Amino acid sequence: MNNKVVLAYSGGLDTSISIKWIKEKYNMEVIAALIDCGQPGDLNGAYERALEIGACKSVIIDAKNEFVNDYIFPSIKANLKYEKKYPLATALARPLIVKKLVDIAKKEGAKAVAHGCTAKGNDQVRFDVGIRTLAPHLQIIAPQREWVISREEAIKYAMQYNIKVPVTKKSPYSIDENLWGRSVECGVLENAWNEPPEDVYEWTKITKNKDEFEYLEIGFNEGIPVSLNGKNIPAVDLVRELNEIGGSYGIGRIDMVENRLIGIKSREIYESPAAEILIEAHRQLESLVLDRELTHYKYMLEEKLAELVYYGLWFTPLRECLCSFIEKSQEHVTGIVKVKLEHKSFIVVGRKSDYSLYDEGLATYNKDDKFDHTHSESFIKLWGYPYELLGKKGRINEK
Ligand code: ARG
Repeated sequence: MNNKVVLAYSGGLDTSISIKWIKEKYNMEVIAALIDCGQPGDLNGAYERALEIGACKSVIIDAKNEFVNDYIFPSIKANLKYEKKYPLATALARPLIVKKLVDIAKKEGAKAVAHGCTAKGNDQVRFDVGIRTLAPHLQIIAPQREWVISREEAIKYAMQYNIKVPVTKKSPYSIDENLWGRSVECGVLENAWNEPPEDVYEWTKITKNKDEFEYLEIGFNEGIPVSLNGKNIPAVDLVRELNEIGGSYGIGRIDMVENRLIGIKSREIYESPAAEILIEAHRQLESLVLDRELTHYKYMLEEKLAELVYYGLWFTPLRECLCSFIEKSQEHVTGIVKVKLEHKSFIVVGRKSDYSLYDEGLATYNKDDKFDHTHSESFIKLWGYPYELLGKKGRINEK
């Protein structure tokens, strides 16, 4: 084992100064690892910058397909949302980033990995627990947790060591992005009463007119979205396209106060057009093809799985078991969902499937009705017996 550390490098201010800081404080060689989960930005520029700052090596790993296939797809199948709202974009990417860091560390014979998470967030938990599960022998370094400095001090440090940080618009927000969504916190958002100013939004800037609308037909195969308006389309492109179209209507904005694992509440803004559309469309298809008991039971598992993902417990037996159950449940989730996009909202307006359990003949109230009305009275009589008995014994609390 050598004296190397693999740093999860984003190219931003914090991880850029971390290269220098780790070298000085720990006297280690830093390998900068850029894991591409579909976040916008100039990865090649960041690659070069890491070397300029003093990394001994820089690597870009294209993890987009893996992200979609192994993390986003299972989460669509599970209609995954933390506290019923957050589609978990940041949380889902963390285990994948951890996996990649550990792979590089093993390949390079590094003795440590480093990440830029602070001591207040969930992400440090996801990184640390993931790393300790996959590679207990690796040391973990978290500069932003060990070295608490303000943004101004960080900029001063960067200037002092001539570390060039991309001249992005000076954002007052803390932002994390990948294919599945954009997470924003800090600044004026910290007051939970403040309406988010428009400059918070990047992916959902409205470019359509107020009265514009359009229909999309999303095709699913065993729970996975595979086509758009009748055309098969690779998964990464499909997610990107839905982010773009949805975003142009202002669809996918989420404003919430959430319960962090670390015990505090935080106010977050998310932009996740594709996630919002795909999860709702998927859920609507399930409502057509899954029976009632499976549907209701699955709800409980979905909530549990969302919690596990949020808590950083991806690499655990329970997460695997829940995903196996959900995988099995998707055998007949094949069909097409029609979605109408309009100003700041969308609605599912149609769904069809060869496996549909919806029978118009049974549901209809007109004369073609196939439902045998003579069964109902006896069914209700038996089903309600226990309660009738309780009533007869005077055991019912009328309040
Ligand atoms: N609260 C979210 C989570 O824990 C998002 C955190 C992302 N970080 C950020 N800088 N906005 O998954």
